[in-house]
Amino acid sequence: MVDRLVEEGYRVTVLDSLAHSVVEPEEYWKGLGEVSFIKCDLRRPRGECLRSFRGAFAVFHFAADPEVRAAYRRPGQQFENNLVATWRVLEASRRAGVEVFVFASSSTVYGDPRELPTPESHPLEPISVYGATKAGGEQLVRTYSLLYGMRGASLRYANIVGPRLRHGVIWDFIAKLRRDPRRLEVLGDGTQRKSYLYVGDAVDATMAVYNKLVQEEAGNYAVYNVGNNDWITVNEIADIVAKVLGLEKVEYVYKPWGREGRGWPGDVKLMLLDIRKITGETGWRPTLTSREAVDLAARHMALEAAGQRGPGPSWR
Ligand SMILES: NC(=O)c1ccc[n+]([C@@H]2O[C@H](COP(=O)([O-])OP(=O)(O)OC[C@H]3O[C@@H](n4cnc5c(N)ncnc54)[C@H](O)[C@@H]3O)[C@@H](O)[C@H]2O)c1
Repeated sequence: MVDRLVEEGYRVTVLDSLAHSVVEPEEYWKGLGEVSFIKCDLRRPRGECLRSFRGAFAVFHFAADPEVRAAYRRPGQQFENNLVATWRVLEASRRAGVEVFVFASSSTVYGDPRELPTPESHPLEPISVYGATKAGGEQLVRTYSLLYGMRGASLRYANIVGPRLRHGVIWDFIAKLRRDPRRLEVLGDGTQRKSYLYVGDAVDATMAVYNKLVQEEAGNYAVYNVGNNDWITVNEIADIVAKVLGLEKVEYVYKPWGREGRGWPGDVKLMLLDIRKITGETGWRPTLTSREAVDLAARHMALEAAGQRGPGPSWR
């Protein structure tokens, strides 16, 4: 998002605690355009971090602890980084008179969906602490938008993959296969089937929603699914990653959690979002299928794992 906003000529301030970030901010965006970086824990923003909201027209709130699996063991940390931080960012935005607020939510707010593809009108029934914090964050964004006249949106992303990603199934498989190229531990029974979207497509979708929001009345709030039209299984992802790494005859060792073959507590086995709302209202469409997105992401991430610098800011 930062790369894209800077490319489009926006003046951007990045706030990140660097808890998980792989970017060396000072070096990364050097010479690119108007971008400044403030290291800041959004659970308790103060000083320069808090002051940086003044004069901002829009906030894209993407900071979070994205590890669904890890949150099972440390729910409090996720509550703080996802829900408390979201409230703090909203509060700083309200006080500073920010006009547009875009929130990174997640498909996990639906839990185990009763309907596939899942529309935005589906009830919010998360089965993970992560999903619950995102559902709660959405409600805060909605209420702040209506009460304080911001134009707000929550984007329920499917699995987003691409360069610089350091969590999720592709990174897990690359790391494991680099350690042992003959044997791959697969969390779950391998039949989990989900939708994957390339990060460039996700950024395009986010910009499409942002550009629409800018035209809306103050106090307007909307929710959009952001995903792909198709889905693939964990077994297929394992095959793609093995092929990208040039490996043959890898033995898959399954490690299911519970009777349903989930990967971990809170793992949603089937995820496919209905994206007709965003495509109908903004004209945005995914350009890569789930398989193409996983393949391209795996190629980038394999290079990064081997210590080669990934593509720079103008990658597509
Ligand atoms: N990647 C996906 O598949 C996916 C899917 C759905 C939703 N999302 C959401 O999109 C957003 C970005 O995800 P990502 O995959 O790029 O994750 P990421 O971990 O790469 O980025 C999240 C960033 O938030 C920062 N952060 C965490 N806690 C913070 C705090 N208290 N204060 C300041 N910064 C903090 C981390 O340092 C990191 O740079 C997250 O909100 C995530 O929940 C991601």
